[in-house]
This record gives sequence, structure tokens and C-alpha cells, in this order.
Amino acid sequence: MIPTLAWTPEGVRFLDQTRLPLEESYVLATTYEQVADVIVTMVVRGAPAIGVSAAYGVALGALRTKAATAREFAPEFDQICARLAGTRPTAVNLFWALDRMKRLFARLLASGATLSQVKEKILDEAHAMYEEDIQACKAMGAFGAALLPRGDSRTAAGGDSSAGTIGVLTHCNAGALATCGYGTALGVIRSAVEQGRRIHVFADETRPFLQGARLTAWELMADHIPTTVICDNMAASLMRAGQIQAVVVGADRIAANGDTANKIGTYNVAILAKEHGIPFFVAAPWSTIDLATATGEAIPIEERPAIEVTHHGGKQLTPNGVGIRNPAFDVTPASYITAIVTERGVLRAPYGESLRAMGLVAK
Ligand code: MRU
Repeated sequence: MIPTLAWTPEGVRFLDQTRLPLEESYVLATTYEQVADVIVTMVVRGAPAIGVSAAYGVALGALRTKAATAREFAPEFDQICARLAGTRPTAVNLFWALDRMKRLFARLLASGATLSQVKEKILDEAHAMYEEDIQACKAMGAFGAALLPRGDSRTAAGGDSSAGTIGVLTHCNAGALATCGYGTALGVIRSAVEQGRRIHVFADETRPFLQGARLTAWELMADHIPTTVICDNMAASLMRAGQIQAVVVGADRIAANGDTANKIGTYNVAILAKEHGIPFFVAAPWSTIDLATATGEAIPIEERPAIEVTHHGGKQLTPNGVGIRNPAFDVTPASYITAIVTERGVLRAPYGESLRAMGLVAK
């Protein structure tokens, strides 16, 4: 399993995703401030991985406190949560994980727990979130694989010799690297491949941070899943040429009506898929659904530093002084989404009703 993040006796060990695929190196975060830094700098990224990282950040903060009692630790606990909450605004899994920790801490305080019990329980909770995330990805994978269209003699994504193979396009990286393992969108693909289905993945390169070209390609190659990287502007012509039979992407936040925020460029792909009659699936854990946000319009979109657009590999690409925008996410309206795959099952439009039917009333 790809070691996206791991708890060690010294702290949290992160596979440095800014250096992949050329270098496999690790960053050890020994304080909650360092966990916040690795989230901001995208050493670790992807909504579920960000949530679990923040949970471990809280655990580190608790373990390193100089407070003498649980009550004395309370203001510091709030400060730790606030620092971690201020890292990236779009992925709701971050806030979901911190809320879960806040509820746990409140319960422990109310029950008169000692500081050492608080430390132990907070770390246990982070471990539980880690394990649950992997299990959720596997369940999602099984539900999602069943939705993928069957290949026939007309589908030959990788050329004539691969008749029966379906081409599946994905955007960004919603894989093992974006989770604690297995992945959401890539979990759907992994599950289908494990069932013997023939899949050829087309990975959008995903400008400007290149999660598709660097990360999706790296992790799928490690699993020997046939993968072709395409530039973001190539998807339309491949769809028109009949090489893509389905799109599967992840999500950073799903509003109560099904509108979905994901990596910038996802909306483009959704429009193209609709135009070409190709199913467009979103795979995300329950922790990505944000009932408190009514529609996509209310989802906060992170604006990242201009240097990610102006430079690549330390080399300047754009003229000095030109205007730059770098919104990291966009929102795909629910009407473009064929189905949302969660670990509890598959949601279909109208998503508000589908969510209620599946019992989502409060987080
Ligand atoms: O900016 P990133 O790399 O954190 O964005 C990641 C994505 O947009 C993913 O598609 C999303 O978080 C789902 S990950 C399972």
C-alpha cells in the first residue's frame, strides 16, 4: 500500500507529494504546526488525506502540550484546531475531522477525563479515522465498479488489440495518495481491475499543480494499471473519438443539492462528458458531504499562490507583471453528475432526496 501518511513514535510521516514522481522522500511532522505547514504546501493533499492529517495534527498537539490538566489544555486545544482549520478552505473533510475531535474533547471534558486519557483517546480517534478512510474507499470502489460500462468490440481505448477495454478519464488525483490508501475515484478503478475488468485510464495532467501527470500516473503505474497522461485540453477530442467510456473523479465538498467542488477543471470535463453522452461519476466518502452548505455557490474556493501558474520547475513561464488567477477548485452542478458513489451506496438525482433516503440528517 502506498504510504501517504503514517503515524510513528516520532510524529506523522508524510510521503512528500511535491517531489513525486521523480523522488520518493518523506517529511516528518513532529508538531501540529508542522502538520499545518505540510497541508498548506501540499506535501499531503486530497480531501480525505487532509482530514486525517489534521486529526493526527490535533493528536500531536495534545501529546506535546505542557498543560498539567485536561481543563488547562482546553484553550490550547482550540488554538490547535483553529490553526489546522486555517490551512485549506475547500475540502470539508478537514472541518469534519476537526469537528469530530472537538466533539470528542467536549465529551471527555464533561466526563472528567484526565489529560493522559485525553491524549490517548484523541490519538485513538485519529487512528480510527485513518482505518475508516481505507474501509470507505474499498466500499466505494465496489459500488463504483458496478457502475462502469461494459466494454465491447467497439471500445478499444488502447488500440485494436485492447477490444473490450473501456477508457476511463480521471482528473487530478483521487487515489491512494489523496486518502489513507486505495483512493476514491482510483479506488473505483482499482476495484474494477481487481474484478478482472479491462480498463485503460486517461489521466488529465491537471494544471497547474499536475496531480494527474505526476501523482495519478505514478500510483497507477505502481499498480500496473494501463494509464495514458493527456493534457487537460485533449479530453474533448478523445471523447469525440470514442476513447472514453466513463469519467470518475473525486470531490472536496458536496453540497446538500449534489453540487460538487473538485479540482479546477473538473467542471470542464463534466460539460464535455454530458455533450458526448458519457457517464460522469463522483466518488467520495460520506465525510465529503456538507449538508450545511445548500448549493455549490456557497462552497469556499481556495485561491492558491500565483507562482504555481507563473512558474514550473523553478522556471518562469509568463511575462513579468501579467495578471494571474489560480482558483484551486471549481464546482460541477449536480445536473452534470450521473451518480455520486459513497461507501454507503450510490446517490442519484435529485441528490437532496437521495441523501435523505440514505439517512444523512446530520454529521
Ligand atoms: O488541491 P488538491 O490536490 O488537494 O485537490 C485534490 C482534489 O481535488 C481531489 O480530487 C479531491 O480532494 C478528492 S481526493 C480523494
